[in-house]
Amino acid sequence: MITSFILASALALLPTQVLASNNGLAITPQMGWNTWNKYGCNIDEQLILDAAKAIVSSGLKDYGYNYVVIDDCWQKNERENNKTLLPDPTKFPRGMKPLVDDIHAMGLKVGIYSSAGTLTCGGHIASLGYEEIDAKTWASWGMDYLKYDNCYNQGQSGTAKLSYDRYNVMSQALNKTGRPILYSLCNWGEDGPWNFASTIGNSWRLSGDIYDNFNRPDPACPCETYDCLLPGFRCSVMNIINKSVAVAQKARSGGWNDMDMLEVGNGGMTHEEYRLHYTMWAALKSPLLLGNDVTNMTAQTKEIIMNDEVIAVNQDSSYSPAVRMWVKGDQQMFSGSLANNTQVVILLNAGDNETKMTATWDDIWFYSLPNVDSSKSIEVRDLWQKKNLGKFSHQITLDVPAHGVRMVKFMGSAQSS
Ligand code: GAL
Repeated sequence: MITSFILASALALLPTQVLASNNGLAITPQMGWNTWNKYGCNIDEQLILDAAKAIVSSGLKDYGYNYVVIDDCWQKNERENNKTLLPDPTKFPRGMKPLVDDIHAMGLKVGIYSSAGTLTCGGHIASLGYEEIDAKTWASWGMDYLKYDNCYNQGQSGTAKLSYDRYNVMSQALNKTGRPILYSLCNWGEDGPWNFASTIGNSWRLSGDIYDNFNRPDPACPCETYDCLLPGFRCSVMNIINKSVAVAQKARSGGWNDMDMLEVGNGGMTHEEYRLHYTMWAALKSPLLLGNDVTNMTAQTKEIIMNDEVIAVNQDSSYSPAVRMWVKGDQQMFSGSLANNTQVVILLNAGDNETKMTATWDDIWFYSLPNVDSSKSIEVRDLWQKKNLGKFSHQITLDVPAHGVRMVKFMGSAQSS
C-alpha cells in the first residue's frame, strides 16, 4: 500500500516529456555547421579543419554552434574486407580519427553523414544492411552526430511503418555503440517523420533540400504543403516555412523539426530575407546548422548568426515552437511562449512593399482565451534592433520591411489568470 503510494507519487513527479531516442541529446535544437550548402562534394580534411578553427576564432562556438558536420562525399567507394567504411584517402589522407581528435581538441563535436539506402544521394556507399558495422565504425572514430539520408532506399518507404522500421535499425545500432550520437534523420518529410521519428531520433527533415532563394517557385520543388508526396529539392525559404508551420507543434525537447541547413551568408538573398530566414528557423525550433563559409564572413552575416537574443529564443527552456496565428495575403503572424512568462511574436511580410502590421493581445495569447486581459500594458523588446520599444496594451503595430520580419519579445503575459 505504502509502496504503491510512493511509486505513484514518484511517477507523478516524472517529467511528462519522454526524450526522443532516450539518448539525452538535443535537449534544445542542435547548433553547428555543415559542409553541404556551400561546398557540396568539394570537401577535404583541410577545409573542415579550417572551418572548425574559424568557428572557434570568430566566436561562433561561444554562441552555441558546436557540431561540425561532414556531409556527403567523404567516403571511399569500397568497404574494407566488404565490411568497414573508409574515408576517401585523397580527401582524408590521415583517415577520420585524427581529424575528429583535432576538432575535439578545439572543444567542438563532429558529425558524419550516410543514407538509409544502398547509396547516398551523391552516389557513394551507404549503410542499409550495414547499420551495426557502420555505427561501430563511426563510434570508433569518435563521431558525435549522424545525419542519415533517404536516397536509394530500395523501396522501403511509402508508409510510416516502412520508414520507421528502416530508420529504427540505425537508431538501435547507434544506441548499441554506447557512445552518445545525435541522430538526425533526413528523409525530407516523407511518410511524416514528425509522427514516427520522435522515439528514435533527435531531429527529422521536413522538406526537400533548401535553395538559397527567398520565394522563387521551382519545378524541382513541386509541393506547397507538408502532406504532398514529392519533397523535391531547390525549395525556397518561404516554401519551407509554409510547409513547416502545419507541423510546428510536433517539435519537442530531444526531437526537433529540421527545416534544413541555413543559407545565411551564401549570397542568394538580401539582408532582410536572410534575417527572416534565420528568425523563422530560430522561432520554429529548427536545428541551426550554418551552411556558409565561416572562414570569410561579412559583418551583415555575423550580425544575423551571432544575435544572442534570437539564438536564445531557439534555445529557450520552454521548448515551445512558435505557432502561426494568422495569414493575411503576404502577411503572417506568429506567437510562441518562452520561459518566465515571456512571449516571442513575429510579424512576417513576404510582400514586395514595406507595410504596417498589427497583432492584438487576443492574437498573441489566443490559446489563453478567454483569460486575456487586453488592457495589460507590457514592455516589448525588438530582438533585431536589440532595444526596448516601450510599453504597449491591446495591440502592437509595427512597420515591417518588404521580404522581412519584426521579431519582438513581450516581457510579460496578458493572461489574466
Ligand atoms: C540530400 C540532403 C542534403 C545533402 C545531400 C547530399 O538528400 O537532403 O542535405 O545531404 O543529400 O547528397
